[in-house]
Amino acid sequence: MTLNANQLNFSGGPGALPESVLQQLQAAMLCVPEVGLSILGISHRSQWFAQIVKELEDNIRLLMGLPESTRVLMMQGGATQQFSMLPMNLLRNGQSADYIHSGYWSGKAIHEAEKSGQLNVAWSGKTVQFGRLPSDAELNLSKEAAYFHYISNETVEGLQFHRVPGREDVPRVCDMSSDLLSAPGEFNRYAMIYAHAQKNIGPAGVTLVILRDDFMQRMPEDLPGFINYHAQADAHSIYNTPPVFAIYSVLLVTRWLRDEMGGLHHVAKRNQLKADCLYQVLDDHADFYRGRAAVADRSNMNVVFNLPDAEIEQAFLKAAHEAGFSGLNGHRSIGGIRASIYNGLEVAAAEQLADFMQTFRKRYKTATPQTTGLSPAYA
Ligand SMILES: Cc1ncc(COP(=O)(O)O)c(C=O)c1O
Repeated sequence: MTLNANQLNFSGGPGALPESVLQQLQAAMLCVPEVGLSILGISHRSQWFAQIVKELEDNIRLLMGLPESTRVLMMQGGATQQFSMLPMNLLRNGQSADYIHSGYWSGKAIHEAEKSGQLNVAWSGKTVQFGRLPSDAELNLSKEAAYFHYISNETVEGLQFHRVPGREDVPRVCDMSSDLLSAPGEFNRYAMIYAHAQKNIGPAGVTLVILRDDFMQRMPEDLPGFINYHAQADAHSIYNTPPVFAIYSVLLVTRWLRDEMGGLHHVAKRNQLKADCLYQVLDDHADFYRGRAAVADRSNMNVVFNLPDAEIEQAFLKAAHEAGFSGLNGHRSIGGIRASIYNGLEVAAAEQLADFMQTFRKRYKTATPQTTGLSPAYA
């Protein structure tokens, strides 16, 4: 199978989108058939756009198995706006919230929430260099918390919760920016889920917010509209001019998940195949490819690893680039290598990368330490 450059894009975000969605978007740039206009020039007040929003809400509920009463909002400002405005809504009255500090992005969420009120960090991975996630026994959760916040998939470190942590008597809030719609889950156990689109769901510009009505009723109604969940929900995602193009793109991805993939169970199997083939290389050659995350907490979305030293990592990235792969550099905060294998990426792309990794390692193993700069231990 010959893959094009978009199909070999392992970027951490924005991530690769399915080819069939890109083709529909290409056509929509010039003309959306039902309207006869470019997607970039269609009014957000049109009948057509109201239907797009309605179908998108329905598709999300269908794919995630959510009841009709759950609010599905499309908002702007990214995940950052959500982890900033949630504490503005719920912590200003002196209440406290529980947070898990499992990596880079939960650190950012904590930093923002501290500006609004009191936090209890229920567990921090700082002492283990964010190399693993906590067990339930390690979580210091409080019964009185206004909510409990965690990130299901730490995009930078490649750590993913494979269970739902937290107490059932405290509203659970989760940032699923890098794994929403990549697998089925127990989504009804959450008071709120948010995820920006630019990993698994679409382009940057829109953030999905899934909000249980009883949780929304705890939010104040007198905040300025842009940080007011009631105002956003009442306006059905059209509080001000929304990103029509991004929302339409997300709709196409949900149609692809529903019709071409056959639902989240099927896309999860495909994602698992991709993760398995890359982790297999890490496991088979642990002397050369050093996985960053503890095996039990490995992410099915971001495969993060190091090579023996920074020089070899640079050589790996250069050779990967020459072989047609892109987006493999680790996050700027930790370096190393990160292969992001979001929904849009084909299994064949992950297999091709796994082959490349095998070949690259062999080349280094057979080369002399002097010419490669490789330390004798790996020669
Ligand atoms: C898990 C997670 N949360 C939050 C963010 C920040 O998202 P945004 O840039 O949309 O504000 C990111 C960014 O990649 C992320 O991966």
